[in-house]
Amino acid sequence: MAADIKARDNGPFLVTGEFTIRDSDGNAFDTAGKDSVALCRCGASKNRPFCDGSHRDSGFTSQEKASGS
Ligand code: FES
Repeated sequence: MAADIKARDNGPFLVTGEFTIRDSDGNAFDTAGKDSVALCRCGASKNRPFCDGSHRDSGFTSQEKASGS
């Protein structure tokens, strides 16, 4: 299944499906056994690129909506 990325309101990007998360050098983060991961988009996580729940206390807000078609 192709990767699907969903922006959660006031929270992370939720990635599901088949994916590899790589750092800027091209090395893959260990996501073995996971069929989904949450990627931080607030900048407050202490475990970037993954969400650690810190967005809840950071005041981060984001509720962009696609126009749909
Ligand atoms: S989005 Fe959850 S810690 Fe940043």
